Amino acid sequence: MNNEYILVESSNSIFGQVDLAGAKNAVLVIMASLILTSGKSILKNVPNSEDVWQMMNLLKQLGAHVNFDFENGKLEVDTSTINKFVVSPEIMKKMRASILVMGPLLARFSKAEVALPGGCILGARPIDFHLKLFKEMGVQISLSGEFLSAHVTKWQAKRLVLEYPSVGATENALMAALAIPGTTQIINAAIEPEVLDLIEILKKMGAQINILPPATIEIKHAAFLNPVEHEIMPDRLEAGSLLLAAAVAGGEIIVEKAPAHHMDVFLMKLKEMGHDVQVLDNVIKFKATKNPQAVSFRTMPHPGFPTDLQAPMLVAQTLAEGQSIIQETVFENRMLHVLELKKMGADISLDGTTAIINGVKQLNAADVNATDIRSSCALVLAGLAAKGQTKISGVHHLRRGYQEFDKKLSKLGAKISIKCY
Ligand code: EPZ
Repeated sequence: MNNEYILVESSNSIFGQVDLAGAKNAVLVIMASLILTSGKSILKNVPNSEDVWQMMNLLKQLGAHVNFDFENGKLEVDTSTINKFVVSPEIMKKMRASILVMGPLLARFSKAEVALPGGCILGARPIDFHLKLFKEMGVQISLSGEFLSAHVTKWQAKRLVLEYPSVGATENALMAALAIPGTTQIINAAIEPEVLDLIEILKKMGAQINILPPATIEIKHAAFLNPVEHEIMPDRLEAGSLLLAAAVAGGEIIVEKAPAHHMDVFLMKLKEMGHDVQVLDNVIKFKATKNPQAVSFRTMPHPGFPTDLQAPMLVAQTLAEGQSIIQETVFENRMLHVLELKKMGADISLDGTTAIINGVKQLNAADVNATDIRSSCALVLAGLAAKGQTKISGVHHLRRGYQEFDKKLSKLGAKISIKCY
């Protein structure tokens, strides 16, 4: 509903234990991968987030039967009834991940008709890398307006080279390559943990996929892929967002079932700020320091600092001692939260995609606007530390990327709720 907003009040310290939902950037591509099979698969630890419901709508539009027990995170998808390869613009526009059905549709039908995808306004976000790889693989693609029509002329097993380790292009090509006789390689592939979770489920379906150092994914032809059961990996981005909530508000939290082994650079930066971060097996114990020191970093493809934690980490720098320089290298327009944070008294100057932050003692509440999933999280964190009541518009962004983030924070003692104007 457009008349909702997030109300956040100054919350000095948060405490307690919190569990993680399944990873948004794993579950969406994994749901798309089920198109490669014909039968009933079961996904567990599926987050109850808006993007999951959108992907469910997309699968239903193709003819699949979907049942989501959202209270228990269990999603059943029967793809034996999928009989379409066309996706409407309305559905494609809802999120960027909808483009990830293109590879599986080409593998299943040798055809796909989709509109250009939507998603967060982080920049132009073209799909040229996806289309280039599809063409290399033997797919003919025509674009009229915003409609893409693709069909396989003749599958060709190739050494596919990505000029940039694009997550989506890697995932799309990886899934399409399963239909290609012989062995296909993707050079300079993305190796984000969510890509590895996709590879995990594809192997369970019967695929033969290897990762060759440094970042080559090798895919053998799969004549048949079986429906499967799979548990979605915990969300490292939710884990990072919750740890940063404690870093900004103060206090101590314990994050259970945390994929700390996928978060090394991020956790190192938290420690450099002076926070106490203990990792034992898959539990992260975090205790905020009262004198956080500013740190600098640049976002990079995995295993570098994740671009999806740049906005909330930038908030932590606005209240740290010293100067922080943050370079966003993955997206060309992922600093929209800076304008909103300056309304709250943050001392930030922008030079292109580089932010220079001088820590201040106090942020002040303001009415601010969230523009994408991670900026909505960042503004919530700023509200926790700001004096007064902060109102954040764009609730749907938070709901797209997190499962009840507001409720999780309030359980830890944060003063946050969703209101109507
Ligand atoms: C995935 O987006 C994630 N989304 C993003 O998470 C994440 O930030 C991103 O990977 C990087 O890790 C999902 O998995 C659903 P890319 P994706 O292709 O695949 C440019 C979040 O908040 N590019 O690796 O779209 C692109 O514009 C979201 O959870 C091209 O130029 O990311 C960007 O600058 C945000 N041409 C860079 O590459 C292409 O064909 C990285 O994009 C494709 C991408």
